Amino acid sequence: MTTDTQTRPSLLPDAHVDAARYDQMYAASIADPDAFWGEQGKRIDWIKPYTKVKNTSFGPGDVHIKWYEDGTLNVAANCIDRHLATRGDQTAIIFEPDEPTDPAQHITYNQLAENVGRFANVLKELGVRKGDRVVIYLPMIPEAAYAMLACARIGAVHSIVFAGFSPDALAARMNGCEAKLVITSDGAPRGGRVTELKDNVNKAMLHVTHDAKCLVVKRTGQQVAWVQDRDVWYDDIAARVSSDCPPEEMNAEDPLFILYTSGSTGQPKGVVHTTGGYLVYASLTHQMTFDYKDGDIFWCTADVGWVTGHSYIVYGPLANGAITLMFEGVPTYPDAGRFWAVCEKHKVNQFYTAPTAIRALMGKGPDYVNKYDLSSLKLLGSVGEPINPEAWNWYNTHVGKGRCPIVDTWWQTETGGHMMTPLPGAHELKPGAAQKPFFGVKPLVLEPTSGEVIEGNGVEGVLVLADSWPGQMRTVWGDHDRFVKTYFSDYKGYYFSGDGCRRDADGDYWITGRVDDVINVSGHRMGTAEVESALVAHEAVSEAAVVGYPHPIKGQGIYCYVTLMADETPTDELKKKLSDWVREEIGPIAKPDVIQWAPGLPKTRSGKIMRRILRKIAENDFGSLGDTSTLADPSVVDELIANRAKQ
Ligand code: WT7
Repeated sequence: MTTDTQTRPSLLPDAHVDAARYDQMYAASIADPDAFWGEQGKRIDWIKPYTKVKNTSFGPGDVHIKWYEDGTLNVAANCIDRHLATRGDQTAIIFEPDEPTDPAQHITYNQLAENVGRFANVLKELGVRKGDRVVIYLPMIPEAAYAMLACARIGAVHSIVFAGFSPDALAARMNGCEAKLVITSDGAPRGGRVTELKDNVNKAMLHVTHDAKCLVVKRTGQQVAWVQDRDVWYDDIAARVSSDCPPEEMNAEDPLFILYTSGSTGQPKGVVHTTGGYLVYASLTHQMTFDYKDGDIFWCTADVGWVTGHSYIVYGPLANGAITLMFEGVPTYPDAGRFWAVCEKHKVNQFYTAPTAIRALMGKGPDYVNKYDLSSLKLLGSVGEPINPEAWNWYNTHVGKGRCPIVDTWWQTETGGHMMTPLPGAHELKPGAAQKPFFGVKPLVLEPTSGEVIEGNGVEGVLVLADSWPGQMRTVWGDHDRFVKTYFSDYKGYYFSGDGCRRDADGDYWITGRVDDVINVSGHRMGTAEVESALVAHEAVSEAAVVGYPHPIKGQGIYCYVTLMADETPTDELKKKLSDWVREEIGPIAKPDVIQWAPGLPKTRSGKIMRRILRKIAENDFGSLGDTSTLADPSVVDELIANRAKQ
């Protein structure tokens, strides 16, 4: 047994923001957003400077969000060109491959400029133009960052699809934004195994309803099936194009990327982020939250397939001229010490990961951490879900050695960057709390049913935001009504986060989790509706209802109640088949943890499934099922409870 030191890390000395400065800057950002963001906008380079800063409305009625609307700029020029004079030979990206014995790469800003310029010219050769959509389906290799920045350079809109998603999911996203091109690799090494990415694209293409080309980056060198005239090797074109590609002049409100994310209903929606405000916000939050200083080595362990990778591996760090580490592998390969081996090897200063990874590694014991020299670390970060006290303490004791502040950053795909987090030079930490709003963020706690604002401290309710910030999503791709309906109609005049929260006696915020039908599996969002529609697409299934339940490592697990067709026999083998089916339909992250046979589902007389009851049963909490009198057939509940024990 090791004894936990339980030392609370002290505030970082000489941080960009101390307590007094936070108070002053926060107050200024709320009192006069135009003045505050007008000033902050200058942290990036504009081709044509903006004269207007904020033009936003959360309704009711008209919902529009525009920042710096008459300014023009290029994101790639901001992430690359403007650093060349001062830090051309400094490392921009450290690439750590899946196999620890393969060499790491250090890519300087000069090399980044060359690689991105060439990649941009390859895209142009393939006919990609300003405003076109490009889907990126790549492993965590430097080419993923080059591809993103190349799109930004020529004004194409990228939409990254996480390489763990299935061919069907890829096809749906390509169709959703009518992508002209998909960029992939032959294979994706991860944790010592290879995912057949090109093969997945081949399968997806069968369901793509418009013409699209496929650009293939060589990663593994394996054999791949090829379709003439559709598929092209990156290297073949790259060999004959120049690396010089002038950046396209973009309006601040031109889309930079689309990222599909799960909601409480229907299929994933394409969250749209634009150019100017997003970059200002990603860069400011990266610098302040992580107290990034020139020369620091910053590692965010996310995948670029999630928003965390967009904002804190690529855009925020590179806009700041930072050194950002890209890791291709997984935390447990070749063993549970990999993260710490990489921290030691590259002398990482800021380390940013998810609670689910901490819990998984915690389960392997502290020896894997303790054998590495982690003295380079100065700050730790957490993102994706609330961090439980055990995980926080372990992270603090074994990784941070009691000296590294932990920033618990609450935000969403929709928010573009951090919304609430303690700042490491300003706020004494409370394990498990996101604590303080970032500059310009105006959180309110509402009474869930009446929508009344709850004033004062020591209160709990749903979390809304009263005003816009530059990193906010602008719309749902191709469906502005869905944007308005999802975020601005439950509580009029506010942005509804979908999360519940508590404001404690000191006024610090604690996120209590989703209040809608979104579940958070290992820090990834999954709509229960998506899993349900995958299940009912199977011929054996007549009906399905999916809820989240507490899971020791994943945070929440996926619990499925399944009603079979009358002629089907409920067997364990069928359970496995259904589980594999969902995995195939959506991807490994959607694989059900529990399937319970449900001869009937609890429904109201109007046919609405009462998920509240299903959640309680999944949680093994039968004492507080609440009112079941409105159910069409209350006996269904007893049967489900009786079957629960057998799971
Ligand atoms: C949902 C957003 C934003 C990056 C990763 C997830 C939950 C996120 C925290 C945190 C408590 C958190 C919320 C949020 N969440 N960070 N620090 N504490 N909950 O992005 O997939 O868009 O999910 O993740 O429930 O709404 P996402």
